[in-house]
Amino acid sequence: MSDTSIDFVSAIRTIPDYPKPGIMFRDITTLLADPEVFRAAVDAMVSPYKDQGVALVAGIEARGFILGGAMSHQLSAGFVPIRKKGKLPHETIRVAYSLEYGVDEMEMHRDAVAPGTRVLLTDDLIATGGTAEAAVKLLRELGAEIVGACFVIDLPELGGRRRLEALGVSVKTLVA
Ligand code: PRP
Ligand code: ADE
Repeated sequence: MSDTSIDFVSAIRTIPDYPKPGIMFRDITTLLADPEVFRAAVDAMVSPYKDQGVALVAGIEARGFILGGAMSHQLSAGFVPIRKKGKLPHETIRVAYSLEYGVDEMEMHRDAVAPGTRVLLTDDLIATGGTAEAAVKLLRELGAEIVGACFVIDLPELGGRRRLEALGVSVKTLVA
């Protein structure tokens, strides 16, 4: 999943010590604000899934919503949000998870995905994989068939890709 003519790495800004000392925060707002790079990123992310019968893209709050909305449009698929706790109005299922700099809980609507639906999971970045693993648990609890998981950024030293692959989820990323 790469477009060699576009320098995705240079389009991502790094903020040292945010939100905590020692974290190198990879900020995709600069990539999103560049029309050419944003389009190329979305095109590259959807390209492996064009003929995969993706019915829904599931995006993880918050940055996964931006990418997932655009990807849904490109794939003519629907979009479902995976949200931090307390944000969804209807009946939900919930899972706790830990991430690089804290703990949290995320939710989906209980009726968001019909069993057997082919779902593509997306977010901006995979670090420890705790967030994505929680998303996989929610999707599987609803009976989704996870076609794959795709991210703009992989932080390989934190092991998230391996963690998802150990769950049987195929992972694609634009940059590491
Ligand atoms: C970031 C990022 C991923 C997650 C990755 O989200 O967008 O969702 O961390 O970390 P992990 O692989 O270690 O779980 P964050 O929790 O900061 O939320 P936000 O998108 O709402 O800012
Ligand atoms: N989520 C977890 N780790 C992160 C990082 N280093 N930069 C941006 N988002 C993150």
